[in-house]
Amino acid sequence: MSNITITNHPLIQHKLSILRCKQTSSKEFRALISEIAMLLCYEATRDLHLQEIEIETPICATKAKTIEGKKLAIVPILRAGLGMVEGMLELVPSARVGHIGLYRDPETLSPVEYYCKLPADIGERDVFVVDPMLATGGSAIDAISQIKLRNPRSIKFMCIISAPEGVAALQKAHPDVEIFCAAMDEKLNDHGYIVPGLGDAGDRIFGTK
Ligand code: PRP
Ligand code: URA
Repeated sequence: MSNITITNHPLIQHKLSILRCKQTSSKEFRALISEIAMLLCYEATRDLHLQEIEIETPICATKAKTIEGKKLAIVPILRAGLGMVEGMLELVPSARVGHIGLYRDPETLSPVEYYCKLPADIGERDVFVVDPMLATGGSAIDAISQIKLRNPRSIKFMCIISAPEGVAALQKAHPDVEIFCAAMDEKLNDHGYIVPGLGDAGDRIFGTK
């Protein structure tokens, strides 16, 4: 699978183990989602273009590098994707943030869209779509299709845990979209939950169950 990066850095794997644990509180869960998102963002922004500028240090004039353009957008898939935004903004504070609201119909597992508000100039931006869970892939595929209608410069998808089924579906539907994640788990269960996974990410972030 060529366009997927699974980041098995020890800090990410350690945080992920605490995240999976069912005793972890919502407060700690939120903090961990944010920290892992920040670490994944470091990896996903590795190919940002740099430009050379002239600066003066207290010692002498020198050439230094800065990120060119800085036209980035983060689009969380509501609700659970919201948990990843703060960590990403720590690293790319000038990024614009759009929102796509989707929930999975519990019977059909198909995504139902209820909200979409994207930056007006998203067509000039590199977009990071974020959602902690890539299960069947339906939500990610749908969100990315919506964003593609606005012709952004590029789209990357970042999640924390993926299932092989979701990765395959997303790669098939959007082969041009690079995927960044912290783990690819074993499979989906009969209810479309990732095994072993971490349960319902939205409920655990917002304490709704
Ligand atoms: C979860 C998760 C993803 C989706 C993944 O959201 O945050 O958006 O399921 O599943 P899929 O790959 O099979 O589409 P959910 O529908 O539970 O909504 P919520 O974030 O509002 O809880
Ligand atoms: N959505 C979640 O929140 N968890 C899963 O395991 C699958 C979809």
